[in-house]
Amino acid sequence: MERALKFNIFRYNAMDPRSVPQMQTFYLDETDSMTLFIALNRIREEQDPSLQFDFCCRAGICGSCAMLINGRPDLACHTKTKDLPAEITLMPLPVFKLIGDLSVDTGTWFRAMNETVQSWIHTDRTFDPKATEERMSNEEAEAIYELERCIECGCCVAACGKANMRPDFMGAVAFNRIARFITDPRDKRTMKEYFDVVGTEEGIFGCLGLLGCEDICPKHLPLQDQLGMLRRKMGWTAVRHLFDGLLGKTA
Ligand code: SF4
Ligand code: SF4
Ligand code: FES
Repeated sequence: MERALKFNIFRYNAMDPRSVPQMQTFYLDETDSMTLFIALNRIREEQDPSLQFDFCCRAGICGSCAMLINGRPDLACHTKTKDLPAEITLMPLPVFKLIGDLSVDTGTWFRAMNETVQSWIHTDRTFDPKATEERMSNEEAEAIYELERCIECGCCVAACGKANMRPDFMGAVAFNRIARFITDPRDKRTMKEYFDVVGTEEGIFGCLGLLGCEDICPKHLPLQDQLGMLRRKMGWTAVRHLFDGLLGKTA
């Protein structure tokens, strides 16, 4: 049976000094297969053209439509209203800079994260455009692809208690990115070099390990495995360098 949906939507235009943060209520009749993407577009087209929210692909690929849906970070375009109660509260993702209403600036955060992680393959080899393609084993390629599926939606960051408390915390998405390069045999960084990036309190040693990130990731990335792997590798690297230092002193 068609339901009457009640939407409580956060409203605030961060660009307008006269704007005051508030919740606004909208009503909409539910239709078959209605997603939050469809609902928000209908509200904007039929009730309030000033409503701000982000969408691009509508297919769970671009990562731009993440928001708090009844308190839980998720992608609005792949969330069906039939899976939600008749009263739906929508808020912008925390941690990221608010642009207006449900729209946040994830791009600046992700650019800084990718610069911190040095998110490119580190190699001494110079690029030769005439070289023939080098083969990689299927297992290696699949392992890298699995971690490359991240769409940088920011849900894991918004769900992370540590990232909410500490703005410089790197977050599960950065740990996943580092794991992706550790997995890639073309990247020649040593564990010590990775340690210098992530072996800190803002990095893997500041992670609380409660795995809200894993629970919330809409692409179901194996974040728990990557966090565990990184914690072990960085722990061993710290111990090895401690012993190297001690042996260096006695030598
Ligand atoms: S396990 Fe670590 S990265 Fe994941 S949500 Fe908790 S503190 Fe954040
Ligand atoms: S790891 Fe998952 S939740 Fe985090 S940004 Fe990537 S796709 Fe989104
Ligand atoms: S609009 Fe691209 S993931 Fe939702």
